[in-house]
Amino acid sequence: MTTDTKKNPGKVEKHGFQAEVSKLLHMMVHSVYSEREIFLRELISNASDACDKLRYDALTSPELIKDDPEFRVTITLDEKASTLTLSDNGIGMDHDDLVSHLGTIARSGTSAFMDKMSGDDAQDVNMIGQFGVGFYSVFMVSDNIQVVSKKAGETASWTWQSDGIGEYTLSPATKESRGTDIILHIKDDAKEFLEEFRIRSIVKTYSDHIAIPITLNFTKDDEEQSEKVNDGTALWVRPKSEITEEQYKEFYHHVGHAMDDPWMTLHYKAEGVIEYSVLMYVPSQPPMDLFDPARKTRTKLYVKRIFITDDCEDLIPGYLRFMRGIVDSEDLPLNISREMLQNNPVMTKIRSALTKKILSELEKKATKDAESYVNFWKSFGAVLKEGIYEDFSRRDQLLKLARFESTSEQGLQSLDDYVGRMKEGQDNIYYITGDSLDVAKRSPQLEGFKAKGIEVLFLTDAVDDFWLQMVPEYEGKKFQSVTRGTADLDDKKEDDDKEDKKTTPEIDALIGLLKTNLEGSVKDVRLSKRLTESAVCLVADEGDMDIHLQKILQQHQQLDQTTLRVLEINADHALIKTIAAAAVKEGSIDTLKDAAILLLDQARIMEGDLPEDPQAFVRRLSSIMVGGLK
Ligand SMILES: Nc1ncnc2c1ncn2[C@@H]1O[C@H](COP(=O)(O)OP(=O)(O)OP(=O)(O)O)[C@@H](O)[C@H]1O
Ligand SMILES: [Mg+2]
Repeated sequence: MTTDTKKNPGKVEKHGFQAEVSKLLHMMVHSVYSEREIFLRELISNASDACDKLRYDALTSPELIKDDPEFRVTITLDEKASTLTLSDNGIGMDHDDLVSHLGTIARSGTSAFMDKMSGDDAQDVNMIGQFGVGFYSVFMVSDNIQVVSKKAGETASWTWQSDGIGEYTLSPATKESRGTDIILHIKDDAKEFLEEFRIRSIVKTYSDHIAIPITLNFTKDDEEQSEKVNDGTALWVRPKSEITEEQYKEFYHHVGHAMDDPWMTLHYKAEGVIEYSVLMYVPSQPPMDLFDPARKTRTKLYVKRIFITDDCEDLIPGYLRFMRGIVDSEDLPLNISREMLQNNPVMTKIRSALTKKILSELEKKATKDAESYVNFWKSFGAVLKEGIYEDFSRRDQLLKLARFESTSEQGLQSLDDYVGRMKEGQDNIYYITGDSLDVAKRSPQLEGFKAKGIEVLFLTDAVDDFWLQMVPEYEGKKFQSVTRGTADLDDKKEDDDKEDKKTTPEIDALIGLLKTNLEGSVKDVRLSKRLTESAVCLVADEGDMDIHLQKILQQHQQLDQTTLRVLEINADHALIKTIAAAAVKEGSIDTLKDAAILLLDQARIMEGDLPEDPQAFVRRLSSIMVGGLK
């Protein structure tokens, strides 16, 4: 924000656009985007939101709309003046609103667009359709914009004016009625947008679902004409058979401030003790704020077609926050305040029934359309799994919906798929948690399981370590981490012999040496049953916190003291055999000490951690290499 933004009544104030806005505007002003018509969709969507906001405020302050209770949007075409004016009698904007809303980029579809901008206009311009860049899309068709706005309940009104190049001005206006007029001076190459049939078809295409009457004023044969150009009834009250796929999509774009196509559309009317209509969507692309720590849900609540609020926390649980859409209740009182929504019995019933319905629809999709369910899961699985942790009543249903990569390398698997493939006598569902699939796949602790053909699930979402704390088993099969406890990979008879064979005096001596030299750094040292290629690995002892969970909590400073790990050694590994042989011989204690610590450092490095003392690690490694290369 440039410094010369002093509020200066009567005078014209000059303001600079926020840097990001200038970048965006530059692209808009020079854009050769084919579907420039979307500017009208964006303006109508804003006007409708502005009316919804005021309708809600008026529930508690009816004086705000007493002199003009009917909400409307009008589009006035003036071919002589080459202007298109879009007006609404919604909430309007005061001086500071105009600065913060039209001079900077708030969190919206537009900022998602900015994040994706490459800086090459020609490339970026084609993304406009995906993000719908909001108010700024007007600069694709106009080289001079005036926004004249008067906030409801206020006397002052302001004119915001800009040509989209670098700065805008603000000056006092004389607007009588509340709301906003956006006057576009249409560019020479955009005159098509002054023709009523063109405007009529754009409204029909993109904004027919807007539940506020949109009137088009134009002159024909020197006669003033005025006609309503949208259906104006709430889409969700119309019979499903009368709604086209396009109309469902456009409503999703409007209600979700999104531009992707919905993956699943849920439209139904619930009747019975309580009555409500639902029109909700599962996006195909993850919304921008999906992992926002606030975990806000974005469902709009209506009561008898009256908009109440647009982020109603009580309608759906946080783990379904990717849903977009509306719920229209027949039973809630119209003057319900946000506070009253909390713990409201009607809301509680709607929430529970709606959650159940959404999950059962997802189940149907998972069976009927497994392939596209995989895409759904890749986008939203990590969020849905939060429900396993926080929603005990839906836990089993959510576990059935869950999908995991596994060592079977057959893509995403369900727990039922895994259980169906368990080996005879296998009681546990084996899993490994990790920061990413790549990291988890390289874990030494997997070796023994792979060698025995025992499938291990990869759990690589941060939430996994948490829900696993709450869910000890699935259908009687215990969840067992391959980085904790003992790896019961034994087929009894065969391995006991092998076991005995492995505990040689050399190995015992080595274990003794390691225990002595690594005291205080490891909890225990033992022979490994899960290593086939690596020499060593670290595991959490049975009953201790698992390795990856400890790492996450440490990273978030939520753990003050750390649990020591068990160092496992692979008796068949050449390095182990060499050190074990040296351990029984009167070798140099120092060298063996170094070797012991280097083994632990090795195990740490494979965990993706640094050696306890990197300098000492390098020194030890160098001296052993020197010894080895002489
Ligand atoms: N007609 C209007 N009346 C009142 N406020 C408006 C109007 N048009 C825009 N605004 C304000 O300007 C802000 C920016 O509008 P813009 O369309 O760029 O973003 P958005 O609507 O918030 O999100 P999206 O990018 O999804 O459209 C809005 O959030 C709103 O606060
Ligand atoms: Mg908008």
